Amino acid sequence: MSDKIKVLISEETVNAKIKELGKQISRDYAGKEVHLICILKGGVFFACELAKRIEIPVSMDFMQVSSYGNATSSSGIVRIKKDLDDSMEDKEVIIVEDIIDSGRTLHYLIPVLQRRNPASIRLCALLNKKDRREVEVPIDYLGFDIPDKFVVGYGLDYAQKYRNLPYIAVVEPDDSEE
Ligand code: IMP
Ligand code: MG
Repeated sequence: MSDKIKVLISEETVNAKIKELGKQISRDYAGKEVHLICILKGGVFFACELAKRIEIPVSMDFMQVSSYGNATSSSGIVRIKKDLDDSMEDKEVIIVEDIIDSGRTLHYLIPVLQRRNPASIRLCALLNKKDRREVEVPIDYLGFDIPDKFVVGYGLDYAQKYRNLPYIAVVEPDDSEE
């Protein structure tokens, strides 16, 4: 049994876009420092690549959340599995997430983080599945709008596999017996 993997966004295209986002963030926060909060595990490849492309001082912290639900849809009830190590107080925070799907995870998380008194909070997402949105989430920096397909690569997984692909791909589970 093997899954069918079809490239949706090439490595070159992803990297070029992240470079652009890094430049845009560097311009928007010129003269300041940014504090990137990477949402584990999916956001980690994107956050690292983005951090390398930001030309102003960057600090990073990591948070892991899980949202109750089944494999392909989230319920909106979010549990913090790993909290941040550092204080966010008075920092210019950018949340770095792999993909916004229903929007429920970030819809829950942003107000939680807001209560920790950062100077500001913005959201940066590599991918956006707008057609799937159930609750409003403002995305300040976005890589790509994508269709309603299950994608993997660049940190995104299917049953913990394929995070290491250097591109974004659509995966179709193949359970045929061929
Ligand atoms: P939301 O709360 O529905 O916006 O869920 C977002 C989370 O669901 C993301 O951070 C991913 O972990 C996961 N997710 C949503 N769509 C995909 C996908 O196509 N591939 C892999 N993970 C996904
Ligand atoms: Mg995620």
